[in-house]
Amino acid sequence: MKILSRLPLNFSILAVVLLVVHPTVCSDSKIIGGRRVRINNVPFIVSLQARPSGHFCGGSLLSLSSVLTGCHCVGVLTAGTNPTTVPLREMMSFTVQAGSQVLPDQSENAQLVKVNRIIFHPNCSFVQYILYDFAILTLAKELQLNERVKPVQLFSLDRNEYDRETKRILNDKNAQCFVAGWGKNKAHARTSSSYLRAIRMRIISDGDCQQKLSRENSKFLSFNFWRNAQLCTLPFEERMNASDCTGDSGGPFFCGKYIFGVISYGYDCGFWDTPNVYAKVADFVDWYKMLLAEKVFEPRSTRKDYSSVDAISGTRVAYVLPAIATILYTQMWVYA
Ligand SMILES: *[C@@H]1O[C@H](CO)[C@@H](O)[C@H](O)[C@H]1NC(C)=O
Ligand SMILES: *[C@@H]1O[C@H](CO)[C@@H](O)[C@H](O)[C@H]1NC(C)=O
Repeated sequence: MKILSRLPLNFSILAVVLLVVHPTVCSDSKIIGGRRVRINNVPFIVSLQARPSGHFCGGSLLSLSSVLTGCHCVGVLTAGTNPTTVPLREMMSFTVQAGSQVLPDQSENAQLVKVNRIIFHPNCSFVQYILYDFAILTLAKELQLNERVKPVQLFSLDRNEYDRETKRILNDKNAQCFVAGWGKNKAHARTSSSYLRAIRMRIISDGDCQQKLSRENSKFLSFNFWRNAQLCTLPFEERMNASDCTGDSGGPFFCGKYIFGVISYGYDCGFWDTPNVYAKVADFVDWYKMLLAEKVFEPRSTRKDYSSVDAISGTRVAYVLPAIATILYTQMWVYA
């Protein structure tokens, strides 16, 4: 089996970097198994879209004008470094679709807003795996709040409370936790799902995750999920071959109104005993709280000292084009 970030190949310069560094790493992710859900049940989920290819990742509304997604969805990662200031989406018109379970949706239910800034988590990096896979997108204008569009809950933005809640969920056999997205619903499908899907999942312990992933790749024998801001899940139902998959990256793993994980990577798609790995939101909240306190999200904020970029400027295309050529060249190794 191959390790797959949950991002579609045609968008993934990361995939190329991973392939170059690590031939077994691959980019692919959609909900396999599970069932269709209406947006009212997951009103905080959004689809990240680029022209002309459409949906490439999921995200969750932190507020009506900001989105939490995966760092690898929007940045170019190179081994051992932070995301470079060459954002993958800079050269494209990059929008967020909220308020609809259908992609693409031309009806008035769907709210489409441009992204104007990407802020990478300072610890986001790629060593062997994607660490601290968080990024925040700020939107060019506020979405309208309604039954279909509502920010996700983050408890009190306190790291300790979040850790406690995560442990409680881990031990609660009745926890109603789900992963949702528009990713592929068959491992070998060519495109994303056009209807939102969700699967009930359960958190597994770091030890369990390490043991199961070590069967796929011995590098996990010494991997520390806790220290690297990751948590793992398996399908709630025993022996149900279900998982998130390509195109689900950046989307939420949630229990009720609360988000616990950001979809990051896994091994292949749809195997009941192979864990899915998420960026652990408990490790995100202290940083987010600090950004709020420093008013980084206020429209007139001129703070530039964050690893952030203007998503629409398109000035660094020169860096991106050679990378695309590399994608075309290396595509033959990619499972897609
Ligand atoms: C799940 O996948 C495994 C491996 O391909 C297969 O052997 C098994 O029969 C599948 N289980 C179900 C319930 O489909
Ligand atoms: C980054 O990682 C270091 C070391 O694990 C940790 O102490 C620090 O709090 C992290 N930074 C953020 C913003 O989470």
